[in-house]
Amino acid sequence: MRSTPSHHRDVELHETDILAWLREEDSARLEKLWALADDTRRAHVGDEVHLRGLVEISNHCIRDCGYCGLRADNRGIARYRMTSEEILGCAADAVRYGYGTVVMQAGEDYGIDTDWLAGIIRRIKADTPLAVTLSLGERPIEDLKAWREAGADRYLLRFETSDRALYQTIHPDARGQVSDRFAILAQLRRLGYEVGSGVMVGLPGQSYESLAHDICTFRALDLDMIGVGPYIGHPETPLGQGNWSPPRADGEQVPNTELMTYKVVALTRLVCPEANIPSTTALATLNRAEGRELGLARGANVIMPNITPPRYRRLYEIYPAKACIDETSPASHTGIAAWLEAIGRKPGCGRGGRAHGGSRT
Ligand code: 5AD
Repeated sequence: MRSTPSHHRDVELHETDILAWLREEDSARLEKLWALADDTRRAHVGDEVHLRGLVEISNHCIRDCGYCGLRADNRGIARYRMTSEEILGCAADAVRYGYGTVVMQAGEDYGIDTDWLAGIIRRIKADTPLAVTLSLGERPIEDLKAWREAGADRYLLRFETSDRALYQTIHPDARGQVSDRFAILAQLRRLGYEVGSGVMVGLPGQSYESLAHDICTFRALDLDMIGVGPYIGHPETPLGQGNWSPPRADGEQVPNTELMTYKVVALTRLVCPEANIPSTTALATLNRAEGRELGLARGANVIMPNITPPRYRRLYEIYPAKACIDETSPASHTGIAAWLEAIGRKPGCGRGGRAHGGSRT
């Protein structure tokens, strides 16, 4: 438990305040927002940056999301599914690098058999001290339950946008079932997972009002982890081709910029002071030199280095030109730990679960 230093006061933001910050353009005022977010981050989750090793275990997907390059309709990419030996090798790498968590992510791939993955989770939990996070799409509750029983600790499922009409047009239903990610997030919570979600910033058709509502929804869901990144157009998708019109065009379009993403990261920290918030790959893709560092300076406290074998990594193209961080990238030879020290932070010890401080009511 961490006590909040006496000089720090949490700010209380209402939806109208959030909306005003999203529209704020004055750089001096924005400096204030960054400072508020950074103070709140330090007071509630400290200077540790938790490292989660990301393993992209399969790029197969049955869905046809309008924004994502892994969509089933995209025949232009070679599909792969890692073997259990390969996945366990990556988990061993995560331990070797000193990470506290391994994240297994994939498209919604029913070739990932429930029991097969449960076996892998059991092995990782038996052989390593790692926390296991899953990010495998909208699987049936039986699967989520089996994986939780096998020892999985956390599950990530972004709700992408709280605007229902927009969500439905960019995220067609599959398997004859209406996609209700909020219902799945509630199931995950009941199963005892730490629950992560998030949105894309600047989705075509996203209004400022709906984005402000997304941020309030993070608070309402009391999320343990929140990932936000800019929407990046993929040329092999309907949205990326501009071949798509939003369900309504009344609100003003949110830009998918670096600045807007920082605003969302900072506001997310203010509304969810204890959450684990990554400085995301999508953000780093917009600014390779400084995006990750600025995310960490404006509210984030997690980095997800990519530990997928390089031969698969390039095939996991959710959006083009993904900026991957790994043990060789940050400051050339020095590795991630040294890079963090250089920016005044330190690698997290242990698994880096959600903080539960006393100051939250
Ligand atoms: N641009 C940015 N983020 C994307 N994602 C999927 N496609 C894109 C894109 N084109 C994000 C979604 C998903 C996460 C794994 O990646 O938010 O939940």
